[in-house]
Amino acid sequence: MPESSGQIDNVMHEDRLFPPTAEFAGQAHIKSPAEYQALWEQAAADPAAFWAELAREELHWFEPFTEALVWKEPHAQWFVGGKTNVSTNCLDRNIAQGLGDRLAILWEGEPGDSRSLTYAELQRQVCQAANCFRQLGVGPGDVVSIYMPLVPELVIAMLACARIGAVHSVIFAGFSAEAIADRNNDAQAKLQITADGGWRRGKILPLKATVDEALAKSPTVENCIVLDRVHQDVPMQAGRDYWWHALMAEADTECPAAPQDSEAPLFILYTSGSTGKPKGILHTTAGYNLYAKKTFQWVFDHQPEDVYWCTADCGWITGHSYLVYGPLAAGATCLMYEGAPNYPDESRFWQLIEKYQVTIFYTAPTAIRAFIKWGDQHVEKHDLSSLRLLGTVGEGINPEAWMWYHEKIGGQRCPIVDTWWQTETGGIMLSPLPGAIATKPGSCTKPLPGILPAIVNQAGQPVEPNQGGWLTVTHPWPGMLRGIWGDPERYQEVYWSRVPGHYLAGDNARCDEDGYYWIMGRIDDVLNVSGHRLSTIEIESALVSHPQVAEAAAVGRPDDLKGEAVAVFVTVKDAQPDDQLRESLKLHVRHEIGALAQPDDIRFTAALPKTRSGKIMRRLLKDIAAGKETVGDSTTLEDLNVLTNLGDGDK
Ligand code: WT7
Repeated sequence: MPESSGQIDNVMHEDRLFPPTAEFAGQAHIKSPAEYQALWEQAAADPAAFWAELAREELHWFEPFTEALVWKEPHAQWFVGGKTNVSTNCLDRNIAQGLGDRLAILWEGEPGDSRSLTYAELQRQVCQAANCFRQLGVGPGDVVSIYMPLVPELVIAMLACARIGAVHSVIFAGFSAEAIADRNNDAQAKLQITADGGWRRGKILPLKATVDEALAKSPTVENCIVLDRVHQDVPMQAGRDYWWHALMAEADTECPAAPQDSEAPLFILYTSGSTGKPKGILHTTAGYNLYAKKTFQWVFDHQPEDVYWCTADCGWITGHSYLVYGPLAAGATCLMYEGAPNYPDESRFWQLIEKYQVTIFYTAPTAIRAFIKWGDQHVEKHDLSSLRLLGTVGEGINPEAWMWYHEKIGGQRCPIVDTWWQTETGGIMLSPLPGAIATKPGSCTKPLPGILPAIVNQAGQPVEPNQGGWLTVTHPWPGMLRGIWGDPERYQEVYWSRVPGHYLAGDNARCDEDGYYWIMGRIDDVLNVSGHRLSTIEIESALVSHPQVAEAAAVGRPDDLKGEAVAVFVTVKDAQPDDQLRESLKLHVRHEIGALAQPDDIRFTAALPKTRSGKIMRRLLKDIAAGKETVGDSTTLEDLNVLTNLGDGDK
């Protein structure tokens, strides 16, 4: 195959098919493949009209919009001329519909303390916080930087910003002072919100100390609000720092929401790119809100009695869209857990599911692979029969990890929604609708209604079924990013320049003969072995299907003969990492895929280096495989929360 075609060889074979049970499909919002297909086709015929109708039904409008979509590539404006407010849609609208006493947030701290908030209580605290922010001079368009543990006040702070038209920038509480200062300066943040500390695996993360260091280099930040989370005595700078509780005690519990233009900025979220400088991904008000809400309802098939748990932190887009804005707009009851999955021991998640009778559980493949490695005994101690639906996001899920999730966590009865999306897309793009679409392990299945994907080669031409190529989207959607904060050229260049008229996601994918999508990894991660272009995930999935392998990462290493040789990094379950296992893995990949993918180098490692959000850092491994970097300590990173010194890494 000519190298310039952009096509990638498909070497993965997966024939297992899991249709939803009749019971699940019977109660689902979308009950059959035909119903899904009809909805998708209706949306595809006129996406703007499709979304406009949903926007009228699902959001509160202070002023109606006059035009559904104004599209001047690469700039989209949705619901033009309308005014709404995201906090109204998440709170007031639900309360007006009689849900004031429904639990919005069930929260458990790592030490075992717990709280719950109804929609009415959440609204009161959001109003108080909004009044506090205003009192400190924060107005529409001002940026509020949030660096907090996963506590209810983090959600309250986000919604309070939305209520007054301020723009939040949530920074995951594992980032360094340097990273906070970079983001604060790029966004010109005016207010900082933090806590004295946060709990992580029984220890206190000194958040306020980190913020103090960051604020010394963040000249635009005028004030800092500090939540007392861990009762630490932290220095408070007079005239700059205020205790959250002291401000809230004085604040009015009413704060009418300020109507916002549909396209008013809602938040900035920094994500790493292929160059060092993080990109401030911008999302705006109405389109994002609608997209998060509808996709939440479709994909998680939300029912009023559900207890929904998304394990992501609000520092990532998953937390924004599926812990806060999607579920709250839909009136869901959400569990939030502050701490580590292995504290005080490896059964914490299962204990939480049993305790709170969780019905929908949404987590990341990196977590699932850790659960597998920790052993089934932790799972088996707990009654997980409340679960009815499982989800994954963040990376491809290797089919064998999918099967474990299906059997051990889902008791073979829960559909699994493998959701493909990005910080940039604002919400889920490709995913099963669990009552309608039979799943195949490792495939994110089909596009959601209103989403028009295309897999193309480097000339922008559609590729044949089962041929890998670039995953693109051919029509704007309401949840799409509106830009990179302060960098319109980079926005145009990264997403819109390589395939004219298409949004370029930066992932490779193939679509099989049944119209199912299979993500093959990042564009930059493709291996080229003797002219065969291989995807990382297919080699990794073959390795993970070996009984001794917990996790694997595949990268290319320069090779005089083959162009690239296959180098793999492997973590094992409880096997002896020796030459015998090495040989057995080589044979296994050869058997699963074929000789061309047989690894040339196999390195065993205690853990794989990951980004803070849990993605394997293949670029770093590529340098290690090529001998450009020494392995050193970077292989002893041992958990899901790998707070590394390795930089942010790529997606
Ligand atoms: C990248 C986006 C979306 C929220 C969390 C990550 C990879 C994401 C899947 C999936 C295969 C996936 C892609 C994508 N990815 N979900 N279900 N299957 N790959 O957001 O940090 O913006 O990363 O994560 O490579 O482009 P993000």
